[in-house]
Amino acid sequence: MNSFTKAKNVLSKIYDNLLNLKYDHQFSLKTNSSVQLINMEVESESIIHARHYQATHYRLFFKIMNQLNLPWNKFNFIDFGSGKGRCLLMASMLGFKKVIGIEFAKDLCETAEENKLSLQKNFPHISLSPIEIINEDALNFFPKTKNNVFFFYNPFDGVILKEVLQNCSDYPPKGSRDYYIYINPLRDYLFESLRLKEIIKLENSNHNKKVKIFTNS
Ligand SMILES: C[S@@+](CC[C@H](N)C(=O)[O-])C[C@H]1O[C@@H](n2cnc3c(N)ncnc32)[C@H](O)[C@@H]1O
Repeated sequence: MNSFTKAKNVLSKIYDNLLNLKYDHQFSLKTNSSVQLINMEVESESIIHARHYQATHYRLFFKIMNQLNLPWNKFNFIDFGSGKGRCLLMASMLGFKKVIGIEFAKDLCETAEENKLSLQKNFPHISLSPIEIINEDALNFFPKTKNNVFFFYNPFDGVILKEVLQNCSDYPPKGSRDYYIYINPLRDYLFESLRLKEIIKLENSNHNKKVKIFTNS
């Protein structure tokens, strides 16, 4: 990486950090600070395969959604490892049919519920899609809805991801059009092995973050 790119990444990081603080403040949310799972109440053995809590940057979230550009009200949004709920709330503002978060850390689910209540209380005029936050290991979630946008901000390693992807392809009703957003796609080969088609790739997006979007349709 040359020094120009390095400087650009540093500035982009600072800009994102400021935007994250600004939007959390603007919407009365507490989603920003990272959390190590060692300090959390997690009952699942999958913890050894997990990545700690870090929220998707607001700017990156909207960049991805702009690229995907679907009729949101015809799709469900499902965040595997939903943490403090930032993406759930943003997806709900976009107008998805239903928004579901699966998160195995109880304390993070509680914070996500508080964030949801705070948004509903402080911004009653914003219409939000129904949001369900499920305190569960992603392995035990079997999507039953038709037409889904599955969201993965690199929440776990390949051991868990492989099973979760299998559930996502086995359980939705026949004819379901499904999209898979994968930020920091370290195990993209698992999507390819399920014959999911890569349709969008963002390179060097927000200080070198890569994103891939796959679909079954
Ligand atoms: C990188 S954070 C992403 C948070 C959120 N999706 C976002 O993009 O803002 C990953 C989250 O996945 C959760 N997680 C990791 N393994 C999990 C599992 N097996 N089941 C449910 N949640 C899990 C972690 O607790 C953490 O909150």
